[in-house]
Amino acid sequence: MTHRTAEDAVRACYSTWSTSYYDDYYGEGAAYPPVHRDLLRRILAPRKGGTLLDAGCGPASFLRDVTDLGFDLYGFDLTPEMVTAARQVLGERGVPAERIWQGSVLDEAAYSAPGGWPQTFDAAVCVGVLPHIPEGEEGTVFANLRGAVRPGGLAVVEARNELFSLFTLNRYSRDFFMDRLIDRGGVLSRAPGEERGALEGALDGLEAMFRTDLPPVRRGEDGQPGYDEVLSRTHNPLELAPRFARAGFADVRVMFYHFHCLPPMLGEAVPQAFRAASLALEENPEDWRGHFMASAFMLVGRRE
Ligand SMILES: C[S@@+](CC[C@H](N)C(=O)[O-])C[C@H]1O[C@@H](n2cnc3c(N)ncnc32)[C@H](O)[C@@H]1O
Repeated sequence: MTHRTAEDAVRACYSTWSTSYYDDYYGEGAAYPPVHRDLLRRILAPRKGGTLLDAGCGPASFLRDVTDLGFDLYGFDLTPEMVTAARQVLGERGVPAERIWQGSVLDEAAYSAPGGWPQTFDAAVCVGVLPHIPEGEEGTVFANLRGAVRPGGLAVVEARNELFSLFTLNRYSRDFFMDRLIDRGGVLSRAPGEERGALEGALDGLEAMFRTDLPPVRRGEDGQPGYDEVLSRTHNPLELAPRFARAGFADVRVMFYHFHCLPPMLGEAVPQAFRAASLALEENPEDWRGHFMASAFMLVGRRE
């Protein structure tokens, strides 16, 4: 998929979501509390104001909840419907419309407000966007974020946790085992002829251990593609954190969220217990178990 077609599909996916996105993920009726918002607030609050850029701001879903932290708020998004919604919501809170604009995180120029001021920001966050960036282009996003924040400024990038697939025992686990961990062709090519049939059988048996009917595919609305029908990648925190550091960020921390106290398929039968025990795990975003039990993580760093 080229960047353009990938971005077109992502834009179409989010075009129908601008008015419901906040309620779905941050509102009272959200399936799970917006723990990522609370984590971001905790990360940003000690900065005590300055300028804050949200790259891929959606309908100002995060920005609208940090108007009390003393930052001058700025944001841009790929999807025009999201830009319109963000301007409206923030306008009601006194933020001028020109502080929200349309642009792609892959485009360096998008990180400057249309008036050209401020030239750099005290902090920049990029949440929910990296999954939609084609493989190999993460470095462009990191470099652009680095260029957007002042020396000493803070950058936060969120990603979906690829290693969570080791805990889910579903389709993602099958893919991680078969495509990322096990080199099927390599193992088979090294097997002596008399073991090859048994090895094929063992690998097929391994694949059959996973619930590949789960999770359900998230489909779109109004004929547009859904979240699982557009590019929505996961990342390995053990790989991504060093890449973020190499892009010019110091004191890099990996902070996990959306913990699951059990593999999610077991949670349906015990939703209240599942939720309570999962929320308890959110209290320590740097718990090592987050590598496996949390579905998302943030990389937090200071521009060198
Ligand atoms: C999952 S939503 C997250 C919105 C917001 N950051 C939040 O955390 O609530 C992802 C947003 O990223 C935007 N997006 C996707 N690809 C983008 C890109 N290449 N550049 C800028 N925004 C992008 C989408 O339009 C959508 O509004």
